[in-house]
This record gives sequence, structure tokens and C-alpha cells, in this order.
Amino acid sequence: MAVRRNPFKPTAGALPPLLVGRQDVIDEFVESIEDGPGAPGRITIFTGPRGVGKTVMLTEVADQVRQLGWVTISDAATPGLVARMTHALTRRVDELGDKPTRPMTGFTLPGVGGGLTFAPPPEVVVDFRGQLGKLLDLLEPHGTGLMLAVDEVHRKSIDDLRALATTYQLLTSEGRNVALAMAGLPSSVSDLLSDDILTFLRRANREVLDDVPLGEVRDALGKTVTDEGRTITDDALEEATAATGGYPFMIQLVGYHVWRKADGDVIDLAAVRAGVPAARKRLGSTVHETALADLSAVDRTYLLAMSHDDGPSRTGEVAKRMDVTPFYASTYRARLIDAGIIEAVDHGYVDFAIPYLREYLREHAARYEMAARHRKR
Ligand SMILES: Nc1ncnc2c1ncn2[C@@H]1O[C@H](COP(=O)(O)OP(=O)(O)OP(=O)(O)O)[C@@H](O)[C@H]1O
Ligand SMILES: [Mg+2]
Repeated sequence: MAVRRNPFKPTAGALPPLLVGRQDVIDEFVESIEDGPGAPGRITIFTGPRGVGKTVMLTEVADQVRQLGWVTISDAATPGLVARMTHALTRRVDELGDKPTRPMTGFTLPGVGGGLTFAPPPEVVVDFRGQLGKLLDLLEPHGTGLMLAVDEVHRKSIDDLRALATTYQLLTSEGRNVALAMAGLPSSVSDLLSDDILTFLRRANREVLDDVPLGEVRDALGKTVTDEGRTITDDALEEATAATGGYPFMIQLVGYHVWRKADGDVIDLAAVRAGVPAARKRLGSTVHETALADLSAVDRTYLLAMSHDDGPSRTGEVAKRMDVTPFYASTYRARLIDAGIIEAVDHGYVDFAIPYLREYLREHAARYEMAARHRKR
């Protein structure tokens, strides 16, 4: 058998072989580009739990918008964002313009230290506006425009985001051909939307990304396998599909590990049964561990209390298990919902938003319980 490359991409931010279940959301954004300046979808914020595919959505919509002849500039919201974007804009202006608009000098990015973040200096913001204007002057006569994509929005770069947002607002009020796509975890996004200066973002189109339908997962797994020259039996495909829970990151993990465990041209049930535990293990060491590390000890105690149930947990019961008042527990419930770790299901019930987190917590309960007790002292 020829050695075949493994087509699955279980890596943060990596474009999957097939983007499952997101066509509508992509179409909506691309239509807003076609609809012209002022279309509401032109400011979109993608949000949702870890590993749901936010970064991939930004990449995909930027790709499609570029195919319409637009220029796109993508970056992550870390301090220095505006300066970096200005730098990128200047390069594009130089490439598209007849002659260099000015000598290419690198920006000295504001440093970050001692817990302080630095607002972009006024001259950087002025330069940002200037370069945006120049680039749009070059693009608009051709009927195209500029899209900015900002990943991992977070309070730590609030000053840059404020400068970006006010500048963007100015451009839209002037009817310029611009679009802005952002992505972040639900807690970071709601945090930003409560900022006084970022009020106009509250009118942005918010796309909450969620698990994708299993039927589409099945089709995508099957097609990815056959496109790469192998086949998969029906029962194996069924079991692999179910193991993903419709969670995008798990689609790639299951695909990747099942592919590895099969040795012939045909992927069978045995390969799936060997691959799924490997996929779950990787999910634990990447997604679960990272998600739990971001939380406080009490947040984790709340989750441990939930993990006793096989399905959704009653919030009153969780409080009882934690030995706290329902009121006290409700603060943590709200925080965990905001962080995209759990979700409210029926009235008075919560459930895990990340697949296999329950199982992961059960398996590692001792470690997290001990850490919680340690902190309390
Ligand atoms: N719609 C999808 N179909 C199939 N695979 C997907 C889809 N969306 C994302 N993936 C895969 O899931 C993984 C995680 O995607 P991505 O890094 O975009 O998530 P994220 O939401 O940005 O996560 P984080 O919150 O950690 O930044 C990647 O391996 C990616 O290939
Ligand atoms: Mg991401």
C-alpha cells in the first residue's frame, strides 16, 4: 500500500480538509460584502467555546472575501495591534500604488511589561487612519475594499481595540468600503461589549458557533477518507461520527487518530475503537487542560460537582454538593456559562458545553480536588 498522508488537521487554527456545518454563516458574511457599505453583517463577531472553530472561520471568510478582489489584513488582538496593522497597510499601499508612499520604516512596537499595557500613541492612530484612507482610495475605484480580521479579542488589548473600533466607525460613517470580522471566547466578547467606548460593537452581528450536525460530520469524514484514497466501513463511520459529538476539534482528532490506527486501505471498526481513545486523550491534554487552567479553584469545584451526573445537572443540586448557597453557586454558574465551559439547558439545569469534559473531570478529579483544597488554605 502506498503511504498516504493523513488529511485531518487536529491543530488550533489549521483549516480542516472540509469545513463542516458552517456554510450559512460564511454565506451571510460574504453576502454582506456584496451588499455594499453599511450592510449589517459587515461587522461580525464570531464567538463560542474553545475548539469550536472561531479562528478557522476568520481564515475562511477572509479567503472568500479575497476571492472577491478585496484586501484582507488579519492579526490577533495583542497589544501593538494597531501599529502592526498600520505596518501591514503601508506595505499594501506600497504594493498597489505606483510609487512608495513613504520610506518603509519598521514601527517600534510598544512594549508590555510590569502588568501595564500601553495605548497606541496618538501618532500611531493617526497613521493608521491615514494608511487606511490611502489603501481604500486605491481599492474603491475598482469596486473592492478592505477587510480587517481580529482574532482572540480580549480585554488585555482594550486600548488597541478602542482605537480600531473608533477608526472603523469613522470609516463606516464616511461610507467607505470596509468590513470587520472578530473572534473571541464568549467571556472575552461580553467583557468587551460592556466597554463604554466599544458601544457600537453591540450592534455587530454576533455569530455564536456551536457543535455541527452529525449528519454533516458523517458526510465529511467519509468524503475526506475517500478523497485520500481509502474507504471506511459503514459501522466504523457511524461510530467515528458519534465519537465526535459534533464538536469541530474532535472531528479532526477522531479523524486523525482513526486514520493512523488503520493499516490497510479500509478503515474498519477496530481502527475506530483504537483511534477514539487516542483522540480523547489528546482532547484532554489540549482543550480540557487549557480550559480548566483558565478557571478559578471554585469554578473547577462547580464543574467537579456537575461531573457526578451522567447528563444535565440541576443547579440546586450542584450547590448542595458544593456545600454553598444556591445564590453563591449562581455566580460561578454565570461565569462558567460566559467562559463557554457550560451551558444552561432546561430551566434550572446546566450541562457541559465541551464534549468529554465530564469524563475528563472524573478521570482527573483527584488532581483538581487537591488543587482546590490547597488554594483554600
Ligand atoms: N467547521 C469545522 N469542521 C471541521 N473541523 C473544524 C471546523 N472548525 C474547526 N475545525 C477544526 O477544529 C480545530 C479547532 O479550530 P479553531 O482553532 O479554529 O478553534 P477556535 O474556536 O479558534 O479555538 P480557540 O478558542 O482555542 O482559539 C482545528 O483543528 C480545526 O481544523
Ligand atoms: Mg482560535
